[in-house]
Formats: sequence, C-alpha cells, structure tokens
Amino acid sequence: MRFDEPALRNPIDDLTVFGRPVARIEGPLKVTGAARYAYERTELGKAAYGVVVGAAIPKGRIRAIDRTAALASPGVLGVITTLDHDRLPTADMCAATLFGGDVIQHHHQAMAVVVADTFEQARAASRLLSVTYERAEGRFVLADEEPRAEAAPDTENGGPDAPDIDVVGDFEAAFRAALVRLEQTYTTPYESPAMMEPHASMAAWQGDHVTIWTSNQMVNWAVRDIPRALGIPAENVRVLSPYVGGGFGAKLFIRCDVVLAALAARALGRPVKVTLHRPVIFNNTSHRSATIQRIRLAAGSDGKLTGISHRGLSGNLPGGLAEMATSQTKLLYAAPNREIGMRMATLDLPESNFMRAPGEAPGLMALEVAMDEMAEKLAMDPIAFRILNDTPVDPHVPNRRFSERHLAECLRVGAERFGWSARQARPAGVRDGRWLVGMGVASAIRNAIPMSSGARVRLERSGRLTVETDMTDIGTGTYTILAQTAAEMLGVTPADVGVTLGDSNLPRAAGSGGQWGAANATGGVFAACVKLREAIAARLGFPAAQCTFADHHVRSGNDTTSLAEVAQRGELIGEDLIEFGDLGKRFQQSTFGAQFAEVGVDAFTGEIRVRRMLAVCDAGRIINPVTARSQVIGGMTMGIGAALMEDLGLDAKRGFFVNHDMAGYEVPVHADVPHLDVVLLDHPDALASPTKAKGIGELGMCGAAPAIANAVYNATGVRIRNYPITLDKLLHELPPLSAL
Ligand code: MOS
Repeated sequence: MRFDEPALRNPIDDLTVFGRPVARIEGPLKVTGAARYAYERTELGKAAYGVVVGAAIPKGRIRAIDRTAALASPGVLGVITTLDHDRLPTADMCAATLFGGDVIQHHHQAMAVVVADTFEQARAASRLLSVTYERAEGRFVLADEEPRAEAAPDTENGGPDAPDIDVVGDFEAAFRAALVRLEQTYTTPYESPAMMEPHASMAAWQGDHVTIWTSNQMVNWAVRDIPRALGIPAENVRVLSPYVGGGFGAKLFIRCDVVLAALAARALGRPVKVTLHRPVIFNNTSHRSATIQRIRLAAGSDGKLTGISHRGLSGNLPGGLAEMATSQTKLLYAAPNREIGMRMATLDLPESNFMRAPGEAPGLMALEVAMDEMAEKLAMDPIAFRILNDTPVDPHVPNRRFSERHLAECLRVGAERFGWSARQARPAGVRDGRWLVGMGVASAIRNAIPMSSGARVRLERSGRLTVETDMTDIGTGTYTILAQTAAEMLGVTPADVGVTLGDSNLPRAAGSGGQWGAANATGGVFAACVKLREAIAARLGFPAAQCTFADHHVRSGNDTTSLAEVAQRGELIGEDLIEFGDLGKRFQQSTFGAQFAEVGVDAFTGEIRVRRMLAVCDAGRIINPVTARSQVIGGMTMGIGAALMEDLGLDAKRGFFVNHDMAGYEVPVHADVPHLDVVLLDHPDALASPTKAKGIGELGMCGAAPAIANAVYNATGVRIRNYPITLDKLLHELPPLSAL
C-alpha cells in the first residue's frame, strides 16, 4: 500500500479498540519471567559462555596476545582474539571496529572472547590473557579539537545536499540591530544509554547457516549488517529479537556481542552466548557525544525574535555521526534571520551514536534554556514568549507547512493544569521550609519519520488472528498496539489476536528507533489487514469495498457471516508493505509538547529534588493512552537524568569513560521520580499515516531536562549552563542564608 494522499476515513476511525487503553498483552509473560530474552533461550541447545575482553589502551596496536594460561584454565573451550581475524566490516552508520585486526581505535574495543562451559570459568580465564600493546597518542578533549572540527550537514532532514550551515536572511545584521540580545554557551555531557538488559546474543550454526537470538531494536538492519560482518550470504542468517529489555539507541546496530557469539560458535561447533558485562558496556558500545552549543538570540522590544543562531560541536571517531543538537532549532520558532549548524571533531574515544531522542534531547537543553533567559531579558512570561514566536510553517522553507502543529495548545493547556499562574517571575522568591521552590517550562519537538513497514496477518482455521512481522517491542508496547490495529480492522478484540515479532523470517518492518516504530508498524499491519479483508470478502463473494467487520462478523448489506465460519473453510492470509510517498517532504511532520517542572532546592545543601512534572503531548492520534503515557513518563524520567545526574566521566589523560557500573553512572531511581502527569492531546494527523498516528516515545524526553533546568533557576536565581546540574555547581552561588 502506498501512502501518498492524506488518510480518509477508514475502519481504524471506528476506535472500538484502537485509541483505547488496552493493557500490555505481553505484560504477564514479562512479570512472570516467561518471556525469555536472548541470553536465556534454550531452543539452540546448551550454549557455552563467552566473555569479552576489552582493550586497555585507547589507541594504538596490539603486538601480541598470549592465550596459553587462559586456554589451560578450567572449563575453557577456546579463545578467539582480534589477531585471528582481519578487521570485520562495521554496521552502516557506525564507526567503531566490531572485531578483528591489530588496530585499537578506542578503550575496551573487543580484543578477545574467552569461551568456557560456565560464565564464571570464562570470566576467570579472561583475566589470564597477556597482551602486548603499542600505545599511540590520542585526542580526547572535545573543546581542544574544536579548531580542527568539520561541518556536519543535517543530511537526515536536508538530504544529501544539505548545507554546512542552514542560513536564512542575515543573522549578524539582525543581531547587531536588535534591541535585546542573548549570547550564551551551553554544554551537555557524554551520556550512556544505560538500558536495563545488557547487550546479549546467542548463536548456533547449522552447516553454513547461523541462527542468532539477540537483543536488537532493528532486525532489518541486523540482517543487513551481520552477513556483511561475517562474510556470509544474507540468506544464511536468521536473527530473532522478540524481547528487548531497553535499547535507548544502543541496540539500533549490531555490536561485538553478535559477531563474537557467531564467530565463537562457528569455531567451537556449538552454540555460544555472549553478554557484554556492565563494566565494558560504557566504553565498548556507543554513547551520546558531549556537545558545546553557542546560541545567540535577537529580539525587538515586542518580544518577536528577529534572529536565531545555534552552532554546535560534538565529537566522534572518524567516519562517525554528529549529535545533531541544532536540528530542532530550524523548526521550533519563527525568526526572519537564522544560522544553524553542527560541527564534528574527531576524537579517539569510543563511538558516539544515536541515544534517546538524539539531537533534540541535548539540543533543547540549550535552546529552551536560552529561550527562558531571553524571556527574562524581555520581562516576558516564558510561555507567552514562546507562543508569540510560534510558527505554522518551516521557517527555512516558508511554503512548507506542518502537517499538524499544536505547540501553543500544549503550552496553554499545560499552564492551566500545572498552575503556572502561581509562578513567581522573580527567581529565588518562593520558600517552603528549607526548600527554595521554582517552576520551569520548555517546549518539545521531535520529528515523525515515515519508514516503510511490512506485516502479514493470518486468519487461522481456528478463527484466531495472527500478526507476523520482524518488528520489535523494546518495552514500548508494540505487541499491544499491533494487536489493537488488527483487532480494529477485522472487528475482533485484542485478545483474539496473537502477535509474533522480531524474527527476520517474517516480513520486514520499520523496527524500533527514532520514535518511528508505532506509526509505521501499525501502518504496515493496517495495509496487511486491508489485504486480508479483501481475501475474506472474495471468499464470501462480497464486494470488498462495502464490507464492514465488527463483533467477529463480516457484513455486506443484509448478508452476515462470522469470521469463525470464514476461517473454517481454510486459512486466509493478508500480507503487505506500507510505503510512503512525498507527504513527509511536502509537509513537515513533527510531534510537539510542553514540559513543566517544579523543583525544590535545599537552601543549605543545594540538593535538588524534582517535586512534580507535567508533559502535554501533541503526537497525532494516540493509539493507546496507557502505553503512550508509559512512553512519556519514561522519557520524562530520562529528562530528570539528563538534567540532574547522567554524566560519563572522561579520563582525559587515558582516554576512556571511568564509569563502569550503575552506581557510578547515575540514572534516576524511583526515589528521584515524583508524580509525573501526562496529558495526551488527540490531534489525528491524516498526513502522517493511515492510522493518523505519529510516534511519541522520544517526544516524552524532549524538553523535560530544560524544564527542570529552568525550574532550578526560578528556584535559586542560579543559572547553570553546563549539565548535569549537580549541587556542587549550585552551592557556592546560592542566595546567602541571611537573605532567606
Ligand atoms: Mo533511538 S536513539 O533511535 O533508539
């Protein structure tokens, strides 16, 4: 099915189960432990355990690896070192070596895998490798490399010809002429995805075919990249990823666990499983780059922005991607003069890559604080200032409208519900016992990305419906929303629908990333269901266009047949692929939100506690308010982490991140997360997908951190521009206790 015209009324619009709060259908499997993750599978037979050994230098070469002692260690079945292989090809959009060769690009690059009968034996033996390194000098400090940084054009949004800097009008002239100006630099730290389930893979060979259970967000990318890495034909690889315990971007691409499990299983002739133990994840896999962002804003005394400049810098290995922290600035506010662009510096740190709303999450941490600062300079309410500078069109392509954009409504609805009118504009003006209390707001934007997505839907002889696709559920609720889609289309309930996901033998879906999963995968199931409805109609001799499907029956005029009766005459299958035309180019398709936070800052110690938060989201039709809300509160929780705690510490001399566990890499825990309130506006987007849905997961994180940062300023009068906002940065600037 080609989607190149706005969606008309279709069976989804009945909303009997689509758009309804359906509980997660796979939830019982997960809470009872019946859902088995990649490391726990038993289908492939008893697997040996592989433990990865990471390089202890950040850059250089490996001269020799002596494995004699490791091989003699109890239970050890084999040791495969990077010197045994040429460098394996990396996955698309990735820069770091997966395995192979003597060149070390970054600390904890996989150097060997030690395989034994038990995990403990493998781990003990992994410490017995003797490695001879030749260390080279490296570049580890982002700010130091700025002079050598190169332009990172926004090709994701601007296409292959995207300019180095997106320019409209003459920013410098506007800035010089402006009555009110802001010029500030903001920095965001290196961050780790820190998902709960570590990377894990299990591989078994049958002849020259390999089956791999892995924890991966994008089965379709994995089956593209694994054959290349292993040098075998694509049809010889089957990938299964039915359950993923969080990915946060780190599992978009195959990492060394996949290839090491496969190489070891081939070498040993038996199934092997490899998990990346927590200490190696921080440096072996990917992280979010730190950014340095300079923002200049120009406005007249009326508060209308006349110019926006947002220039950013991030770092990566050669050939890696930039953290596109400036992209959202092109779309969020009007201003006739603009210059927006990222640069990327080459660093010899581990690979940085997509993580939790890449680009927008750190980008809004700068832009939305700058907007707060500018509102204060203008003596305007921050919400009124944002609404005044709202735009119905892409400010860089003024004839291009947004498909749907309800940012101002998000801000207004949120202000009312949050009690914004009680906010004191003067900072450090509200006291509750020992706590300084403040409120903050931020806008949120995250794009809706169309991707083709396939599915198959079977009406089995038993009368049961089954949805089959290689789509993944990374804890987001995919199983449930695909069941809702099929149920709505065929007039049954979600309980009548089985959903099989994450198997590369099934039709290719969009996968889970960039908040594109829900809209595209439900679009694919919609398309397959249209085919199945046609097949059912054909069997009954009904005209397909006039059939309605409701209450387990098919009706055409006065004729009614139960689906069970149709099914008894033999299984019927509908299979299709949703493909998108140029609506996404003709219209800017984005999701919007407003984030509100209230914080308390201890007047004596500087301790920061988030007291309450609210997100108002404009994300198209909401497929399932329960799963959507869960996505948003997850994102808001990540925003708390980004604002207040998450920070990969860099050892700038030795060139690695020092964090090696969840005690040293702090993420919010339950005690850090107060009541999170979510309002889901329901503005179906007929230009986005046949179900009129868009994504929402990453939107939930966007704006959450700057809302907290702005609340901390409102509470204390201290503006911290280098994240995370920890009490050591606040303490010496807090109002004197005598003034309280
Ligand atoms: Mo997301 S960072 O595309 O998993």
